[in-house]
Amino acid sequence: MLGIGGKMLARKMATTASPINEVVIFGAGLMGSGIAQVSGQTNHKVTLIDREEVLPTAQKMIAASVNRVAKKAFKNDQEAGRAFIEDTIGNIKLVSDPGQALLTADLVIEAVTENLKLKQDLFKRCDDECPEKTILATNTSTLRVTDIMKDIRRQDRTGGLHFFNPVPVMKLLEVIKTDHTSPETFDAMTAWGRAIGKHTVACRDTIGFIVNRLLGPYIQEAIAMVERGDATFEDVDVAMKLGAGYPMGPFQLLDYTGLDLHKFINENPDHPFRKQSEMINKLVAEGKLGVKTGEGFYKYK
Ligand code: CAA
Repeated sequence: MLGIGGKMLARKMATTASPINEVVIFGAGLMGSGIAQVSGQTNHKVTLIDREEVLPTAQKMIAASVNRVAKKAFKNDQEAGRAFIEDTIGNIKLVSDPGQALLTADLVIEAVTENLKLKQDLFKRCDDECPEKTILATNTSTLRVTDIMKDIRRQDRTGGLHFFNPVPVMKLLEVIKTDHTSPETFDAMTAWGRAIGKHTVACRDTIGFIVNRLLGPYIQEAIAMVERGDATFEDVDVAMKLGAGYPMGPFQLLDYTGLDLHKFINENPDHPFRKQSEMINKLVAEGKLGVKTGEGFYKYK
């Protein structure tokens, strides 16, 4: 249970009561770990699932990030900060097998790699094992929720919950409704989003939803500009930060979200903004995927 400090923050962040208490998250990468963290911070019982070898890194990432959040939120009360960290970590179970967690889950969120078949199979298993009440939601950013959920029986209890990186910092959550998502499911997803402290916006199940649909052409034109030799990537980044007030330039953002994800978008025949880029393909082939591998357009410690 959350200590006094944690309760205070959970109350401060939660603006709407939500009937969702138990959350199962598949995929302990950057996004899944971040979703687990914000859920744990707001007193939800979380089971985070991934391969055994991935879990120690996820655990470290969550611990480091919760420490940053606590340092800021409890700068004048270290004891409350420590309780908040302890309670948040205590709310998150990292496992390689869901065990009994699916049997009582209120919400399942999938944040595994953008592989349609993998996601479809995962939700089929959840559809078989989870009770009637469980809502099944994907955090996909490049696929259609409808395609991912096509074989699911409980179509009315499916939808999308699209988070932004870094999840503990970015305030937005896009709540996605397919043609089959019921109003009750949509309302429950929205209320939960607010309960974890996010500002929610609604969007139909379209590729890219709101944010990535608009970021897509911007990023592609930035890449084209550099490939044409109009400007260096460093100058494009500086220009967008100082001239347009963006917190990061497009190439810093590409490094941050991962060049492999961008390449995946370029290879998706359904994606409205796909555009092959030799520059991106070369970096990916060299294993330079951005921040997560220590190098992309820039080098990272
Ligand atoms: N966990 C906790 N806190 C974090 C954090 C993390 N992972 N990362 C940053 N912070 C906190 C820092 O502690 C710091 O707090 P203070 O203000 O109290 O010092 C604050 O955030 C700012 O961080 P930094 O000083 O390290 O660096 P910054 O000012 O450059 O901010 C940033 C970093 C928040 C990432 C900012 O650059 C930014 O907003 N960038 C744009 C990110 C963006 O566009 N994300 C969306 C990508 S698209 C996407 O995600 C969609 C998808 O489908 C994947």
